Amino acid sequence: MWRNRDVISARDFTRPELEELFETARYMEKYSKGRLDVMRGKIMAVAFFEPSTRTRLSFEVAMKRLGGDVVGFWGAEGTSVEKGETLADTIRMLDAYSDVIVIRHRYEGAAKLAAEVAESPIINGGDGAFNHPTQAMLDVYTIWREFGYVDGLNIGLLGDLRHARTVNSLLEILTNFNVKVHLISPEYLRPRTETIDYVQSKGLKLSFYTNVEEVIGELDVMYVVRIQKERFIDPLEYEKVKGSYRVTPDMLRKAKKTLIILHPLPRVDEIDPRVDATSHAKYFRQAALGVPLRMALIYLILS
Ligand code: NCD
Repeated sequence: MWRNRDVISARDFTRPELEELFETARYMEKYSKGRLDVMRGKIMAVAFFEPSTRTRLSFEVAMKRLGGDVVGFWGAEGTSVEKGETLADTIRMLDAYSDVIVIRHRYEGAAKLAAEVAESPIINGGDGAFNHPTQAMLDVYTIWREFGYVDGLNIGLLGDLRHARTVNSLLEILTNFNVKVHLISPEYLRPRTETIDYVQSKGLKLSFYTNVEEVIGELDVMYVVRIQKERFIDPLEYEKVKGSYRVTPDMLRKAKKTLIILHPLPRVDEIDPRVDATSHAKYFRQAALGVPLRMALIYLILS
């Protein structure tokens, strides 16, 4: 099911495939601070044209824990992209030098283009405002690890739901599960119509709010994203919505005891650091699970 697959969009994966990924990641947790030598002789190339901490490092660490090697660059400085090389040519070279390529790019569609020119599998580490499929896999994996199941949960998404690629991919992947999704944002920051139409056509139940207080008591999961300043076309629109929500200990007094808060990170000011010490805060665990989840992905695609 996974062998040699490109991972471009969350839409491409079925529930049995996700379950296989999660079971494999669960197994990989035993080795995520150790070593499982199953990728010896394999090379992963990382081509990150946009900033990243967790996605890049967890992919690199995952490959190293599996006994493989990593080459690549982050930022185009020092590469021939500075001389005007096209993305397609850069990818062709990485394809010749490695067994799998992880790419992050500010333009939507970059990963798909890479997959068209490369023979090796391409993994999308985030392109533009639209796709971040491996983050969405990690998000659902974290929920599954926390609760032991996903079906039946009430999942709130809070923040910049329009420009956050993690939100778009998460909505798409949640169509595989029987969950209720509560979208909480200023009206201007609701997900794109195209995404809403797609996930509703797949049967995902959505409801919309502008105020967290209206729904917080019902939620099992609250997934928070930062306002994606760099993706706003109009700076005035950014000024209008910045700082429009913030998760505080006070707000959480109305929440279920078992509510978990997730965030793909980096956070700016949308979660008060005082929340970190509460039993709700699971975003650091979520980031840590990125290693076993990505070990599982690499293993399933390359072995
Ligand atoms: C996110 C991204 O790059 O889309 N970070 C991540 O990969 N964990 C989220 C963000 O930048 O807000």
